[in-house]
Amino acid sequence: MYFNLGAACTATLLAIVSPVHAADSVAYKDPETGFTFAQFNAQYVIGKYITYRIATPSNVAAGTPYDAVVQVAAPVDVGWTGLAWGGYMTYNPLTVAWQNGNSATVSSRYATAHQAPSIYNGASYTLLKKGTHVNSTYWQYTAKCTGCTAFTGSGNRNVTLNPTGENRVAFAYSRSKPSNPSSSGSAISVHDVTASWTVDFGSAANANFAELVQKNA
Ligand code: HEM
Ligand SMILES: *[C@@H]1O[C@H](CO)[C@@H](O)[C@H](O)[C@H]1NC(C)=O
Ligand SMILES: *[C@@H]1O[C@H](CO)[C@@H](O)[C@H](O)[C@H]1NC(C)=O
Repeated sequence: MYFNLGAACTATLLAIVSPVHAADSVAYKDPETGFTFAQFNAQYVIGKYITYRIATPSNVAAGTPYDAVVQVAAPVDVGWTGLAWGGYMTYNPLTVAWQNGNSATVSSRYATAHQAPSIYNGASYTLLKKGTHVNSTYWQYTAKCTGCTAFTGSGNRNVTLNPTGENRVAFAYSRSKPSNPSSSGSAISVHDVTASWTVDFGSAANANFAELVQKNA
């Protein structure tokens, strides 16, 4: 008992004085697709989580755009889920997705205000068959995105996400299912929950990225 209390106090102190900020994500190697992802479990209702995973290629030259693979596993009560690549709702690519029968629909969106986002042609997605499936408790998709890591941010800034370090991203969750699930242009209703976190893209790097994309296509 005494020991446990001591350990807890030490841990708390270390957390307070530690000058190094660690990313919120953890590295995860997906046995199904072979990708190494930076993973984060986003709580959307008390005790329930949507898992967000991002994989990138290694050896990306600084300042150049690069593809990414996004994998999301969502409980079946999730109506739609969104990933905001710049960490907030506006002026960054939004990867919005929902269950569509035994698969998922991914929709590319972008917002310039806190209103229903428009379709965004600056990013395109290829669903990877192998990591995309539905069972009685979860729907999951895996998609390659071209255009998610470099974009025009607010004030017309050119933003490129750091390929080797931390980037802040955000998610949105809605319990409402889109009206036309087979269409990526479907109307969606506003989210019930949003939050942001940091992803260590360094731990998301895959030396065999292109090969894995092909293998899972
Ligand atoms: C019908 C569609 C949508 C409407 C009407 C809407 C509206 C809003 C409003 C009014 C806010 C600010 C107030 C609040 O926190 O509740 C907000 C915040 C936010 N929204 Fe949306 N939203 C929509 C879709 C989306 C989508 C698709 C995403 C994708 C990830 C998203 C991500 C966020 C995030 C991360 C925040 C909090 C950070 C920020 O304010 O930028 N939203 N939204
Ligand atoms: C259902 O799918 C989820 C997400 O892919 C997975 O974590 C879970 O193990 C699956 N459950 C079963 C019973 O196969
Ligand atoms: C952003 O990038 C585009 C295309 O590479 C370039 O034409 C433009 O001048 C850049 N804008 C800024 C503000 O740097």
